[in-house]
Amino acid sequence: METNQTVLITGATSGIGKELALLFAKEGYKLVIVARNKQKLEDTADLLKENGAPQVTPVSCDLSVAGNAQRLYEEIRERNITVNILVNDAGAGEHGPFKETSLEEELAIIQLNVASLVHLTKLYMREMVERNEGRILQLASIASYQPTPLLAVYAATKAFVLSFTDALINELKDTNVTMTALIPGPTHTEFFVRAHAENVKATENMEEPDVVAKIGFEALMSGKPHAIAPGMTSQIVMSSLMNNQQVAAMARKQMEEKEVPSEDGSTQI
Ligand SMILES: NC(=O)c1ccc[n+]([C@@H]2O[C@H](COP(=O)([O-])OP(=O)(O)OC[C@H]3O[C@@H](n4cnc5c(N)ncnc54)[C@H](OP(=O)(O)O)[C@@H]3O)[C@@H](O)[C@H]2O)c1
Repeated sequence: METNQTVLITGATSGIGKELALLFAKEGYKLVIVARNKQKLEDTADLLKENGAPQVTPVSCDLSVAGNAQRLYEEIRERNITVNILVNDAGAGEHGPFKETSLEEELAIIQLNVASLVHLTKLYMREMVERNEGRILQLASIASYQPTPLLAVYAATKAFVLSFTDALINELKDTNVTMTALIPGPTHTEFFVRAHAENVKATENMEEPDVVAKIGFEALMSGKPHAIAPGMTSQIVMSSLMNNQQVAAMARKQMEEKEVPSEDGSTQI
């Protein structure tokens, strides 16, 4: 089953983005895949072609650098590729007390999770509205609902993504362009290791990325506003019933180190 449509996925070489790319490949979509690591891009392109994608265009681009989202857009336009579906998946976090984490790292995270996402949405949504067709999937998070101590900047970027997406869904309501926010909880990807948070309590109960991707894919393709990962609806409801400091106290526990049983049977933190 081949379509003539092209999907652009940022962050397509790992985790949720890679699983989303595989779902599109299996449905016969052409793909533009974006990440920084060139070897992983080549390997992922091969995998996607083996799984049915008729054409895969890998583009190495660091979206944590200002100006690169615009360069990416121009490079794709020069190749005469029309993007019918945009998936803004690339994202990152940095764990630790805000007084100690790297400001440089956090400004790069804001550039990646927020500014580049807004930039690509602006450019591709305009084209989609002009053609009166298209779909956009934005990677939000359970953190969109929860101010999260020890991951404060990341959670704030995801609150931005959800608010931004919900506002645009309303702006798009009289068009054939749809937008969907995917809301994963802790998911078994490279995210926590990259964020230096591999030992936090949130990693004790993680969903697999193929499960999360499938929920996002189905909601995106049926034009639903939100796709919520399994088990996360109750957390969202609970968060809405508490004040922000109560939510922050709850979220903090998930960002603290797991208790590790020691050899003598006692517990260490
Ligand atoms: N895993 C979770 O628990 C979880 C929960 C909620 C939401 N999310 C969100 O889901 C999305 C995907 O995360 P994941 O868990 O699948 O993460 P992941 O396994 O770490 O994959 C991240 C992907 O983004 C790319 N990427 C990272 N930094 C980039 C940059 N500066 N420029 C371009 N590409 C970049 C990576 O490739 P390169 O390193 O080669 O660039 C990789 O392809 C993120 O937006 C994340 O915030 C994840």
